[in-house]
This record gives sequence, structure tokens and C-alpha cells, in this order.
Amino acid sequence: MLKIHHLSKQFDDSNKPVIDDLDLSLDTGQSVSIRGASGSGKSTLLSLIAGFDEPDSGSITVHNVTLPFKGEKQADRFRREHLGVVFQSFNLLSCLSVEDNIAFTARLKGNVDPDYQQHIMQRLGISALAGKSAALLSGGEQQRVAIARALVHKPSLILADEPTGNLDEDNSEKVSAALYALCCELNTTLVVVTHSNEVAALAQRQCWLRHGKLED
Ligand SMILES: Nc1ncnc2c1ncn2[C@@H]1O[C@H](COP(=O)(O)OP(=O)(O)O)[C@@H](O)[C@H]1O
Ligand SMILES: [Mg+2]
Repeated sequence: MLKIHHLSKQFDDSNKPVIDDLDLSLDTGQSVSIRGASGSGKSTLLSLIAGFDEPDSGSITVHNVTLPFKGEKQADRFRREHLGVVFQSFNLLSCLSVEDNIAFTARLKGNVDPDYQQHIMQRLGISALAGKSAALLSGGEQQRVAIARALVHKPSLILADEPTGNLDEDNSEKVSAALYALCCELNTTLVVVTHSNEVAALAQRQCWLRHGKLED
């Protein structure tokens, strides 16, 4: 479902590639965790998979679509239908309530499933926050809302960039268990970047990003 072949990316202001001839192949429903030093290129890799950024060489195929997208229209449609992203910065809309932030993606897709939304909010422990303005949430609460928002339209691939980075150990365990379980329910492929060994250990496959390549 995700096939990455010979992928390379170098930023103009750097003398070596941040992603260097990287390969990764994932089946539908498979989960992989990626650890690596700060600055090793983890966020860059996710951004290439989402098509937010373009590689210098190599290929990425997601759900039978080979990147780059043919224009913004195809990109938007693909991300709406197939992709859920949990950004390192949450990008919540502070003018909206928690439930409206979560429903936003599903509404764009014209595919609102209120029962499913309730289910994930409950699983992530944010049901009681439904009507609260996103501007009033703690970092940990925003993180859970961002995860719910990434899942609500039942995507085939979730890219999560340090999804528990703002949670204490206890909550990190609960929220990551919920994330893996929800992906498992939907048979959604999950790529999770994390610094936490506990969060990483929950994935079926565990990789390290080193010198631009993934090592198992
Ligand atoms: N848009 C960009 N322009 C130039 N350099 C970038 C850009 N994005 C990331 N980098 C550089 O690429 C390297 C990898 O960054 P990043 O992917 O954010 O690492 P990680 O997520 O593993 O901490 C860093 O050295 C960072 O400074
Ligand atoms: Mg990062």
C-alpha cells in the first residue's frame, strides 16, 4: 500500500542529503515506527510521503497513486480520501470547538459518521471536551484532538509525527494504544515517528532513520 524506492532529498543549504536512497514497503494495515535523532529527517520523510514536499529522485506510491500528484486538485482529493496526518504542530483551528475541529475533515469529504466520531473521541478520552473551544485546550488535549481529526474520515494511511510528544508517560501510553487500536480496527496503515521506545514498540515493524536510510 506504501512503496518507497530509492528516495533522496537534499535541501539547498545543506551539503548532504537528509534522505539518501531510502526504501520502504508497507502492506495495508501494517504499522511502522520510526525513531531517529533530531534533524535526522523524520518529518521530511513524512512530508514527502504526504506530497507536501518533492524528492530530488526516487519514487513513492501510496494506495496505487504515484507521486507527485497531478496538480493541487488531485492532491487535495487524495489527502481528503486516503490520508490522515498528525502534524508535529497541531494546526487546530482555534476559532472552532473540539468537535468541529474533528468533523472538519469528514465534512470536506462529505462523509460524516457521527457515531464513529463519538467512538474515537471516547477512545482518545476527549468526549467531555466536545463543545470546548480549541483555543482553550492544553497541549496534551490538542494532541488528542489532532489524532481524532486525522482518523475521523477513515483514511487508508495515517502519518503521525511525534503524536505523543506533548503527553506525560501515562497519557502517552494510553493515547498511543488508542491510536494503534483505532488503526487496527480500520485496517489503516500507520507510520508513526516517535522518540518514545514504548510508543515505537507497539508497531509491527520498528525502524531507525540514520544517515538518510531506514534500518530495521
Ligand atoms: N524546508 C527546509 N529547508 C531547509 N532545510 C530543512 C527544511 N526542512 C528540514 N530541513 C533540515 O533537514 C534536516 C531534517 O529535518 P527534519 O526532517 O525536520 O528532522 P527530524 O524531524 O528528524 O527532527 C534538518 O537539518 C533541518 O534543518
Ligand atoms: Mg520532526
